[in-house]
Amino acid sequence: MRLIKSVEEMQQASLECRMMGRKIACVPTMGALHEGHLSLFEQAKESADVVVVSIFVNPTQFAPNEDFHSYPRDLDRDLGICQEKAVDFVFLPEADDMYPPDHSFFVGEEEISKILCGVSRPNHFRGVSTICTKLFNIILPDFVVVGMKDAQQAVLLNRLIRNLHFPIELIVGPTVRDDDGLALSSRNMGLSESQRKEALKIYQALCSAQQLTEKGIINSDRLIAEVTNHLGQSLRLRVIYVKAVNLDDMKDVREVTSGQTLLAVAVWMDQLRLIDNIVL
Ligand code: PAF
Repeated sequence: MRLIKSVEEMQQASLECRMMGRKIACVPTMGALHEGHLSLFEQAKESADVVVVSIFVNPTQFAPNEDFHSYPRDLDRDLGICQEKAVDFVFLPEADDMYPPDHSFFVGEEEISKILCGVSRPNHFRGVSTICTKLFNIILPDFVVVGMKDAQQAVLLNRLIRNLHFPIELIVGPTVRDDDGLALSSRNMGLSESQRKEALKIYQALCSAQQLTEKGIINSDRLIAEVTNHLGQSLRLRVIYVKAVNLDDMKDVREVTSGQTLLAVAVWMDQLRLIDNIVL
């Protein structure tokens, strides 16, 4: 495994790989790696000759009142995992290189970034689009591998890749869950035992809607009401949204189309913002 901190060195290493005809898969991360990331590393390995994992807690995707400073960071552990998993390159840029003092460019998106999480996090997806554009230009990947847990982000990146003509194929890996159903997330590291127990109700609520669809109930309002009611039984969960949307463009749907409708949830659990989703 080669650790690279400099933008120029990473770009050079990627150019050399490409000149040798080697395909590059990039897994962009903010560190605090977990099994979900490891499954993305595996998919990256299956698709390409070279795997580049970027680790960068991107300040521009956090609002001033959000958890940028308390976001979990454990670099030694992350590097150990990348080494163990035989990742070829870890790209670990400095914030000043990614956002130099004269930084004045952002990549804005006008549709997907304005709905679901974009309503309560208005600049979040601008930050994600900006950092991913930079990473794509530096790492020059043939494939980018992201997780379905962040389904809206995956749809946004797919649109970004197509709209900005990046010669990249996006691979979206399935959400990895603990045995009890909790979707793996770096932010779970901040959950106490009792919070974790409450957080489980998110997946249980999604499953209760799934069960209704299996009985033939496909009206979105009915399913959203079911999930909202389920979540409301917990005094510690505050619903931000529950939505049934089309998997391709994240637009609201009135009825479920099997395999094509995403049921997505965002909640506050005390001071932590958690998201999850299932494809119905
Ligand atoms: O999903 C994440 O970890 C981040 O949003 C990403 C894609 C690495 C961009 O900072």
